[in-house]
Amino acid sequence: MELFGSSASPFVRKVRVMAIEAGVDTTFVWRELSTTPINPDLQLAEANPLAKMPTMMTANRQMLYDSRVICEYLDSVGGGPTMFPDSGELRWRALCQQALGDGILDAAVSIRYERNMRPPEKMWEGWIEGQFGKIRRGLDRVNAEAEYLNGVLDIGAITLGCVAGYLDFRFPEENWREGRAALASWYETFSIRKSMSSTAHVVPKP
Ligand code: BEZ
Repeated sequence: MELFGSSASPFVRKVRVMAIEAGVDTTFVWRELSTTPINPDLQLAEANPLAKMPTMMTANRQMLYDSRVICEYLDSVGGGPTMFPDSGELRWRALCQQALGDGILDAAVSIRYERNMRPPEKMWEGWIEGQFGKIRRGLDRVNAEAEYLNGVLDIGAITLGCVAGYLDFRFPEENWREGRAALASWYETFSIRKSMSSTAHVVPKP
């Protein structure tokens, strides 16, 4: 299997964490690449017309995207317990946590694009604030429901762990832990899992 992406991408990290937890990490070939909406990687675009990461080629050369599909695939071929609860409340909670986490990450990455790629005269502060609104409201909800995360390992927890890690990496000034003690305490434990520590984003030196 080959995974295409950048180690800076939180969605790529989500897939890497999932692969390790599912026990399929040993067969991964890892390829760093750079692709953005205004400068798409053309080779990647042949595999995935959206030219987005992560994209993964399976052992029989089938191309899979996006992170949700890849994670479900890895879960299905891995040897461990499933990260996608089969049914009932647990299933819908895990999937909803994944959707919320992915939405927070979409908002965070779009702020990065807005700040780093848009010409300054075209930057729209109101739009950036709107994205921060999604991030803050999302984190507040996760904090309020953190009891459902404690001791749990599923796709919801993996996604939310990647959310916390990405905010530490790209938005340290946001101090997301402030006023969210339950979430901060959960993440302190979750982040020391081997799957998390071995895929951590590298925080740039000041
Ligand atoms: C980042 O550098 O923050 C980033 C890179 C790739 C995808 C998403 C985010």
